[in-house]
Amino acid sequence: MPDTNIMTMIDEAAAFIRGRIESAPEIAVILGSGLGPLAKEIEGACVIPYGEIPHFKASTVAGHAGELIAGTIGGRRLLVMNGRFHFYEGHPMEIVTLPVRVFARLGIKDLIVTNAAGGIKDSLKPGTLMLISDHLSFMCPSPLNGPNLDEFGPRFKDMTDIYTPALRELAHAAADRLGIALDDGVYCYFRGPQYETPAEIRAVKLLGADAAGMSTVPEAITARHCGMRILGISLITNKAAGLGASQLSHEEVGETARQSEQNFVKLVRNIINDWN
Ligand code: HPA
Repeated sequence: MPDTNIMTMIDEAAAFIRGRIESAPEIAVILGSGLGPLAKEIEGACVIPYGEIPHFKASTVAGHAGELIAGTIGGRRLLVMNGRFHFYEGHPMEIVTLPVRVFARLGIKDLIVTNAAGGIKDSLKPGTLMLISDHLSFMCPSPLNGPNLDEFGPRFKDMTDIYTPALRELAHAAADRLGIALDDGVYCYFRGPQYETPAEIRAVKLLGADAAGMSTVPEAITARHCGMRILGISLITNKAAGLGASQLSHEEVGETARQSEQNFVKLVRNIINDWN
């Protein structure tokens, strides 16, 4: 992927989307594995399959729909990615994070990123929700590698409080009001697509990881580079490798996501209602 092209690609995708939606969205939402049901909550939905958007890739992962949806929840104008691009699908990081650059180009200043993750911290049982307080990106090739895109942000970007404290407070307030348990935790990125080994999970636990997953971090780093506010929510679908009784499978992840999606949808809907 020639770096010189990336700005053109971002602008082509942004121009296409701008031409298809009625009004400028305020908040972007990226939905992870099995979290698509939030899309049903969107009012006045305008659905654009990724295949129609220049430089967007068709999703290759079960549980990822592959469509961009513009519409509102609680009067907030949203642009929702129902399915995301992963590094393990073979996309370069520039493509994995291209949608976030496009969001920034469309004037969006706030991003909600969601994912399914394996729980490492004891309290993070399958079916529970975790509010991402910080992340470990050691295994993540930096999406900011290569020539800096000065249009978006500086070469050396600070990552302190990457998950915006004010939005985390808002999320906790919504969870308390709804009686939904919402644990804070550190999300650790793994490249996948293989699940982690028990030794890898033990190692990152020592380093402060509370949950493990294969997404979110590239998008969060890129959004931060663009100066966006970020809220991250993980649905814990399984105990991480070596911590549960059974072996891990994408089917188990999908099944737990299906059983627990109601709380996730309720929480995110309320967070968006309260957004400020
Ligand atoms: N590891 C990595 N990614 C995941 C997991 C996991 O245990 N569960 C859901 N996505």
